[in-house]
Amino acid sequence: MARVLAWTVEFLQAFFLVVDDLIDESITRRGQPCWYKLEHVGLISCNDAILLDQENYHILKLFFSDKPYYQKLVDLMHEVSCTRYTAIGQSMDMASNPPNKRPQFHVFTQLRYDSIVKYKTAFYSFVLPVRLALYMSSFNSEEDHKIAEEILLKIGHLFQVQDDYLDCFGDPAIIGKIGTDIEEGKCSWLIVTAFQMCDKQQREFIETNYGIKDGDCVRRVKEFYNKLNLKDVFHKEEEKQYKEINVLIDNLKAKSQLSPKIFTEFLNRIYKRKK
Ligand code: IPE
Ligand code: MN
Ligand code: MN
Repeated sequence: MARVLAWTVEFLQAFFLVVDDLIDESITRRGQPCWYKLEHVGLISCNDAILLDQENYHILKLFFSDKPYYQKLVDLMHEVSCTRYTAIGQSMDMASNPPNKRPQFHVFTQLRYDSIVKYKTAFYSFVLPVRLALYMSSFNSEEDHKIAEEILLKIGHLFQVQDDYLDCFGDPAIIGKIGTDIEEGKCSWLIVTAFQMCDKQQREFIETNYGIKDGDCVRRVKEFYNKLNLKDVFHKEEEKQYKEINVLIDNLKAKSQLSPKIFTEFLNRIYKRKK
């Protein structure tokens, strides 16, 4: 049953990624062409995404409708912390670089970045699977769920910061996707951080070259990131967030029955990841 439940998270992820690659105009995913890129798929991918999403509720009904926690699973998957929040996050993400417009640089702030990431990634990738598992294991205490959510949102945040870093500095052969954040004009951790480090003139330079589908412009942005030593800044940030999350996990013992292992295992799986 745990495996069936895990598959629903996987379906949900597939649903969001099929749409995400379409709207981000991405090229590859998991080492293969993005689904919409296939000649026989194209815009059919929109309907395929709806199918992937809807299968979830069908699976939940087939396997879990006789369980006392069924309604909790459906609510969680649907709204409380997942599909709805993720779609809101994707909207915020896209509002920062609307099609046929220049990126909206005035919203490339830390505050805005934090909320995009929380909604588009952290809920569905981290909060959802753990909370589903807790319900399945009869951990129903609202307090425990809240405490778990607080830690998982932080792990999810770190995960997206890494995703943004790897988009630019990762190896496509290892991460299985080709980065497009710079030419797409994404509100990524790298540019938000760069803006905090540079002066007015440098900011103008990035703005002129960012969000333009041209190899030279992309190269100039990357060179500038290197000049700012953003790789080092990222590694320090990863270290810092990792330590902060571990403090939260350590504090768990005092206020909850939840096993710290749930969180440390999840955290260690992503810490210093290359893919
Ligand atoms: C993904 O955000 C978030 C969702 C799929 C909901 P990104 O667009 O930053 O992720 P990648 O880099 O394409 O995987
Ligand atoms: Mn994407
Ligand atoms: Mn995206």
